[in-house]
Amino acid sequence: MAAKDNAVAVDKLTEAQAKAELKRLAAEIAKHDKLYYQSDAPKISDAEYDHLRKRNNAIEARFPKFVTKDSPSQKVGAAPARGFGKVAHSVPMLSLGNAFSDEDVTDFADRVRRFLKIDGELNIVAEPKIDGLSLSLRYEDGGLVRGATRGDGFVGEDVTANVKTISDIPHRLKGKNIPAVCEVRGEVYILGRDFIGFNKRAEKEGIQLAANPRNFAAGSLRQKDSSVTASRPLKFFAYAWGEMSAMPSKTQFGMIEWMERAGFATNPLTTLCKTTDELLTFYRKIEQKRSSLGYDIDGVVYKVDRLDWQERLGFVSRNPRWAIAHKFAAEQATTVLNDIEIQVGRTGALTPVAKLVPVTVGGVVVQNATLHNEDYIKAIGNDGGPIRDGVDIRIGDTVVVQRAGDVIPQIVSVVLDKRPKSAKPFKFPTVCPACGSHAVREEDPKTGELDSVRRCTNSLACPAQAMERLKHFVSRGAFDIDGLGDKQIEEFFEGGLVMSPADIFTLQKRDARSLKKLSSREGFGATSVRNLFDAIDARRTIPLQRFIYALGIRHVGEGNAKLLARHYGSVESFRKSMIAAGKGESSEAYQDLNSIEGIGEVVANAIVEFFKEPHSVDAVDALLKEIDVLPAEKVKSDSPIAGKTVVFTGSLEKFTREEAKATAERLGAKASGSVSKKTDYVVAGPGAGSKLADAQKLGVKVLTEDEWLALVGEK
Ligand code: IVH
Repeated sequence: MAAKDNAVAVDKLTEAQAKAELKRLAAEIAKHDKLYYQSDAPKISDAEYDHLRKRNNAIEARFPKFVTKDSPSQKVGAAPARGFGKVAHSVPMLSLGNAFSDEDVTDFADRVRRFLKIDGELNIVAEPKIDGLSLSLRYEDGGLVRGATRGDGFVGEDVTANVKTISDIPHRLKGKNIPAVCEVRGEVYILGRDFIGFNKRAEKEGIQLAANPRNFAAGSLRQKDSSVTASRPLKFFAYAWGEMSAMPSKTQFGMIEWMERAGFATNPLTTLCKTTDELLTFYRKIEQKRSSLGYDIDGVVYKVDRLDWQERLGFVSRNPRWAIAHKFAAEQATTVLNDIEIQVGRTGALTPVAKLVPVTVGGVVVQNATLHNEDYIKAIGNDGGPIRDGVDIRIGDTVVVQRAGDVIPQIVSVVLDKRPKSAKPFKFPTVCPACGSHAVREEDPKTGELDSVRRCTNSLACPAQAMERLKHFVSRGAFDIDGLGDKQIEEFFEGGLVMSPADIFTLQKRDARSLKKLSSREGFGATSVRNLFDAIDARRTIPLQRFIYALGIRHVGEGNAKLLARHYGSVESFRKSMIAAGKGESSEAYQDLNSIEGIGEVVANAIVEFFKEPHSVDAVDALLKEIDVLPAEKVKSDSPIAGKTVVFTGSLEKFTREEAKATAERLGAKASGSVSKKTDYVVAGPGAGSKLADAQKLGVKVLTEDEWLALVGEK
């Protein structure tokens, strides 16, 4: 490989050289992608191609400021040959937290006030929550250039041609002074009567019926042939925005008025409220109107009106602090429990699943529902006290099933009058149904309480656990490999082709026989194999946060994975520190792990346990041989606190702890819960105790609240 031999070592490159080389690499990789994917005529070997990508990534890792949106590292494979193109959202499309009761709404308003430190006026916009699918529309110089679905919130599908057929969506924005870039977001939905009309015709014509209006709208928007979309009466309400080169208003309500002036349909029920009571009155009014609106809604949404406050409130993981969805009560139906199946999860948890006589709940056919755990079946609640008036759940029972939004349906009660005489209490297995090993309920060492979950003890070799771990590994927030879903993992696992994560990445290299085995599978032709390999290759480079999440460590969800990635920065540092943390609770590495804000003892211990297992470390190392893990994105900041670790202590008077932490993170600092040698600043309010003493002992700089405000430029 000539490029490798005379290339300048990455750590010796000047900025100018790096920039020029990235440009050249992007062009070269794009050329080879095209040859490979579209012309089916590769000109270089896979190893040479991999080398180009690796070099690109290494240079980008050293010069993150040169990473462009169309860098090969940011692209999800090459342009897909089939289906829709992918669109990376410049501002992510996030989701909303839920409120289910009046109290949840009061808590929301209180939280907002506390965070902002206000007790005066707090205007909140209330509007219906449309049950459709969200869409982002990009306008440049007033003209519609792209329509994209939400996808996973970060990358969606390009549905521009289809979007242009929706009459509620203007092709050109109206009015003067339209910002050069406007991304208007909202919900695509369909009127109930149009949905019913379509299903009536479909029935006559013998074509497939749609399950509910939302599925119908989604299916219609994702048609390959846009004339089909055009024939479907889709509608659109605008209620949010993404990237804006200028803001036409300073308030949420003002923005909605602007969207209307620009030519969009906005929801006519949208109301500006001044008190929590007004929010709740709005909720009740909409709940009453729900059935006569003509379109499906599943709750109402509340949004803080002032946009500067929205900005200050920011986000917690994927939900804004400045908005919440107040959901309508769940829908229920009655059916018969045919059987109870025990599923084994990736952490060995035995979960009972109700197999039901299919029943429609709120427009969706339900045949499985969760039974949570052993105690739930026995009518014992989390606190050890009775639930459902002490009525247990038995096979053969008539039960009430409840479904709320996207939450897994659950069984809420039993109709005792209908219990068959022969029904017996359910015996929960004490051995794993997949591997026969003991399944136990762990005792909390501190409280002596039994865990509600029974777990298979054979975490290493239990086939069900191994398979579930692989499913998690390829899932959305993790490696997200197209075409490698639960079904394929099951087949590959059972066929002995993929037993560990690394196996996914070596599939292609393995002997012809295993590949033949793969392509001889039903419904898995040569093209599918090739597409799968492309999808796998597209994930050979992965951000640290996804990598950590993919490991499937107990208690490490996407949020914790992000905290860990930000703290450790690189996969090397993460791996080394986790192994060192296994040396004991007094080790510096363990203390450091435990000091990460948001990572508690339970999580820390689960991570340490994972890395104490040589088998896990081997699996991680085998995987690392096949892939590149991108260092965590450092928050860009030229603030003096960027990269520093700060501890807040005492009763803070000038700002709330949450607000201070949010400021620290926004400026690229880490907020930590305990003081160590690595702490840079301790911000002490009145009444600071042991943390302040620790800081003085370790010689850590202590700041007053005012000094902190000055340091972060808020004073
Ligand atoms: S605001 C940052 N307003 O609900 C959050 N969402 O759970 C921006 N939705 O994905 C969303 N009606 O598809 C907002 N009036 C409304 C909505 C609404 C429906 C959907 C939307 C979003 C989901 C959030």
